[in-house]
Amino acid sequence: MRQENQSSTLDFILLGVTSQQKQEEFFFILFLFVYPITLIGNLLIILAIHSDVSLHNPMYFLLANLSFVDIFFSSVTIPKTLVNYLLHSKAISFGGCLTQMYFMIALGNTDSYILAAMAYDRAVAISHPLHYTTIMSLRSCVLLVFGSWVVGSANALPHTLLAAKLSFCGNQKVANFYCDIVPLLKLSCSDIQFNVKMMYLGVGVFSVPLLCITISYVWVFSTVLQFPSTKGVRKAFSTCGSHLTVVSLYYGTVMGMYFRPLTSYSLKDAVITVMYIAVTPTLNPFIYSLRNQDMKVALGKLFSRRISS
Ligand SMILES: *[C@@H]1O[C@H](CO)[C@@H](O)[C@H](O)[C@H]1NC(C)=O
Repeated sequence: MRQENQSSTLDFILLGVTSQQKQEEFFFILFLFVYPITLIGNLLIILAIHSDVSLHNPMYFLLANLSFVDIFFSSVTIPKTLVNYLLHSKAISFGGCLTQMYFMIALGNTDSYILAAMAYDRAVAISHPLHYTTIMSLRSCVLLVFGSWVVGSANALPHTLLAAKLSFCGNQKVANFYCDIVPLLKLSCSDIQFNVKMMYLGVGVFSVPLLCITISYVWVFSTVLQFPSTKGVRKAFSTCGSHLTVVSLYYGTVMGMYFRPLTSYSLKDAVITVMYIAVTPTLNPFIYSLRNQDMKVALGKLFSRRISS
């Protein structure tokens, strides 16, 4: 009991992305630029989609939902990092630490399930164009989104509850710029075997969408290869290419971080987390709108309406 009290009153120290002062400044400036871009870019996507009736279909609703999650995903860690840097503080309360961990896992999972829903949507559109509107009805779209949130939130709960019971014996220095599950487990002086097993299980749940995405793309490619004209092939690849880019970036970095033994983790690896916390959510709006003609038109309309009113 005393141990638990101790860990809830004492602040944790976030060591940051690197131990070098110069590099730390670089990441501060990176976050400072990237965060507003993430917020504005994703907000514009949501506004453009909702204000343009021709984009009111499952593909764009899913994209708007992805942007919605990305806004919260980057807000869990980056503002705290920026404020701490400005205040020359590295402290975070244990409650704050667990909150960051919960939302990072929950939103990260929700994000990946929405990416899977988007892949499924494209697969149905390309392989079953005639049945697309019945299979991807508004109802199934809402179910997919709702399901993503439920699975994401549920997957985060056991890790957070288990972490709340850990003792730290005065080791409060988290080797990252936010409270990530791996450095937190490494700090603990409790028996973490069960936590680690649950973490690998969690990574398994997180990987289900990757499997769905892979199956969807195998389905898409096998359909596309039967198309008689190269024009159809090009069109199919252009709608899927942007999605594939985001997915590979996202899973590539997350897998690099969590699909390996806990002992191999060190502060150096905090840089990998910058990739999926700061870079991927920022790139999403650009990847989708710059390669998509309908999105460009919708964004243009959004701006011209704002200017004329
Ligand atoms: C998420 O998708 C649903 C439809 O499935 C849509 O009604 C809702 O507006 C979307 N959310 C956002 C933030 O765009």
